[in-house]
Amino acid sequence: MWLRNVAQSAWRGNFTIYQSSQIGALGRECCILGNFKSHHMLARWKYMQHKGVKGIRNKKSTFETLSKEESESDINMSKCEDINNEPLNLDDRAYEELANSAMHISPGSLTQNVFIIQPYVKWGSERNTLTTPEDQLEEAKALVDSLPNWRVAHAIKVPLETLHRKALFGSGKIEELKKQLQEHNTKKALSCLFISKSTLSFGQKRFLEEIFKLPVLDRYSVVIQILRLHATSAEARLQVAMAEIPYIWTQAKDANPSLARKQGYSFTDTQREILRTRERRLKQELERIRGHRKLLRNKRKQKNYPVIAVVGYTNAGKTSLIKALTHEQSLQPRNQLFATLDVTAHAGILPCNLEVIYMDTVGFMSDLPTGLMECFVATLEDAMLADIILHVQDLSHKCKQAQQQHVIATLASLQNSIASNDQMPPIINVGNKIDLVSPAQVQPSEDTHLVSATKATGLKELLLEIEHKVLTVTGRRKMTMRVRNGGAEVAWLYKNAAVTDVRADEGSAEHLLMTVVISELTMQRFIRTFLSSNHE
Ligand code: GTP
Repeated sequence: MWLRNVAQSAWRGNFTIYQSSQIGALGRECCILGNFKSHHMLARWKYMQHKGVKGIRNKKSTFETLSKEESESDINMSKCEDINNEPLNLDDRAYEELANSAMHISPGSLTQNVFIIQPYVKWGSERNTLTTPEDQLEEAKALVDSLPNWRVAHAIKVPLETLHRKALFGSGKIEELKKQLQEHNTKKALSCLFISKSTLSFGQKRFLEEIFKLPVLDRYSVVIQILRLHATSAEARLQVAMAEIPYIWTQAKDANPSLARKQGYSFTDTQREILRTRERRLKQELERIRGHRKLLRNKRKQKNYPVIAVVGYTNAGKTSLIKALTHEQSLQPRNQLFATLDVTAHAGILPCNLEVIYMDTVGFMSDLPTGLMECFVATLEDAMLADIILHVQDLSHKCKQAQQQHVIATLASLQNSIASNDQMPPIINVGNKIDLVSPAQVQPSEDTHLVSATKATGLKELLLEIEHKVLTVTGRRKMTMRVRNGGAEVAWLYKNAAVTDVRADEGSAEHLLMTVVISELTMQRFIRTFLSSNHE
């Protein structure tokens, strides 16, 4: 509709509009703006105007304001004051003692020799059909390797009939394991036993600890230790702190008070109060963050930047891909699980010169209790409300299919809890780390873009696809306008639209042909500003 209106206005004033399909017909005349022979050079020049904020032309200050506000939000959050104006102390000693004993958190400096057991069910409804026990064991090892000073002493898979037995293992298996553990303990002085199951009940843990004479950890408590280590911003620290609480409560609820006392583990009234107060205060803070993020999102919307959320399984290469697409040198991808815990915004530029924001997000992982991911909902909300989603997959990973399905299922559940009234943004599938896969193993797929973020392969095609989707979703059009050379329209378009190309109009020395990417709203403003006044 808006195109028709624009077309009706065309040729009436000092400018002419061509639809994008006509652009090719205009030929490849030399560009008028000084020495800029191609739009690549034009883009380069624009970039150089903005040392630091790549791709943001004429809008550096607005993007920087947003970035500054986002980092200031971090600073504000570090104060974390509640209604009584009492600062929330995340390093409260009494709480730390409670949490450390519930989750077996040990001082980071101590070397930990970890014996890993990967339980799995061979048959029946509890069998994991998405991934193999071998791959689950690999992931468990990777979790341990993510922690400095932690070493895998030994790792085994243990078949079970069910994961819900009171003691997890049958008596025969327990005896077998006891022997193995004793053997390895004499050889390597084991520090703990990591049973790679999302959560173990308090009863299961205590029972196994009594028998094996070692601290027992589950996936939740290992992941929490990784998250604690990687949470550097105030917001991430709050989210991790919140993720711990349900776990500690479960342990307390599971505990039979008389038995727990006998085993030297029970919650005093004071400890319960510490937990309750902390939980209440963290909830308040996270609510505040959510509100603040909403505000920032609205501001970004006002500035009209299309937002591209980059999601995927942990370690798939999300940060690396953003680095490759934006050339932002400050980004430091790390070969670690859950390296990114904050949602961060990065400016990029599409081939048509349109500025966009890429959002880096926390990675997903399977077999984590939902409570853990829920604490990151405030940040993942940004992803679910983006214009498009890039789903980055590690093609070189053995479990790529299971990882892909897990991410899709998580996105769907986030969609339900966060933005149930909105449609899921369109998803572009990106198969990353193609350099690590032999050509014979690569199955060309129509709906997956094959790239290598670190070798910069396939990025051009990916950028074109992103551009196509962004223009469609945000209702932007690429069009060429005929404007007066040196007229106010030229400056206006530079300020308010993405200028892709500028050429001389062969038919008139007084006019330029400007190709721009412009939204319907901006186009209407342009018409109101320049066309209407010309015809009054
Ligand atoms: P999380 O923040 O933990 O979720 O990780 P991420 O998905 O952001 O992954 P990141 O970009 O940090 O990369 C993880 C590791 O994979 C790093 O060691 C990267 O160098 C490596 N990597 C990323 N992309 C590629 C690629 O295309 N090829 C190869 N060979 N390695 C890659």
